[in-house]
Amino acid sequence: MIRVAAVGDLHYDRRSRPELKRYFSTLSARADLLLIAGDLTQSGSVEEARALAADLEGVSAPVILVLGNHDFHQNQDREILELFRRRGIKALEGDSLVLELHGIRVGVVGLKGFGGGFFGACITDFGEPETKQFARHARVQADLLCEKLQALDTEFKFALLHFSPIEGTLLGEKREIYPFLGSYLLAEALDAAGADAAFHGHAHHGVERGATPGGIPVRNVALTVIRHAYNVYSFDMPRRTQERPRELHAAT
Ligand SMILES: [Fe+2]
Ligand SMILES: [Fe+2]
Repeated sequence: MIRVAAVGDLHYDRRSRPELKRYFSTLSARADLLLIAGDLTQSGSVEEARALAADLEGVSAPVILVLGNHDFHQNQDREILELFRRRGIKALEGDSLVLELHGIRVGVVGLKGFGGGFFGACITDFGEPETKQFARHARVQADLLCEKLQALDTEFKFALLHFSPIEGTLLGEKREIYPFLGSYLLAEALDAAGADAAFHGHAHHGVERGATPGGIPVRNVALTVIRHAYNVYSFDMPRRTQERPRELHAAT
């Protein structure tokens, strides 16, 4: 069994106190890895990221993270990624990694994703250059997700995102902002490539549980949604002769 701890939208700022440190310090006894689904910082500064990195120091399990939109705000995203990588944290941006946990190969694809919306209310690659740029960025992120997942040859495959691949985990958010919260293209990529689960954040007022049209479990792990320092999801060993989905068991 693989135990995946996940959380997103920690939004560390200059006033942050090490409140989460004590929860992170016991994580390694409860989970095999920690996924952090972006919005690490409030305003995208290196100092804010440094405070989070300090709180994560006690986690001996592998920590894998992606950036969220907030982490780009001050154009310090490269420095933030570098800061985490220097501390041994796997900061992914459109790439994947493979871990061996209890003799089981676990692959994680990590990228921010993007907005664009969902069927019936989504942006299209048409019109002004700015609109097309928005639409194309969503497409590029989804294509990358598909490509990297397909390239993984591991017993488990997980996707770590910031933006949502489905509407289901956005329930509670205003419908008017759905196009800024996620893109159906990400779900298409997941269903095309296959994955055991996808984790995202960004939708602070959404709900935790959903699934892609193809049945891949999706979990919105924004801190304000799960209301814990992290949730732990357990995955039984894959039965590759059967189709998905396997059931997820959430615990805190
Ligand atoms: Fe956020
Ligand atoms: Fe966000």
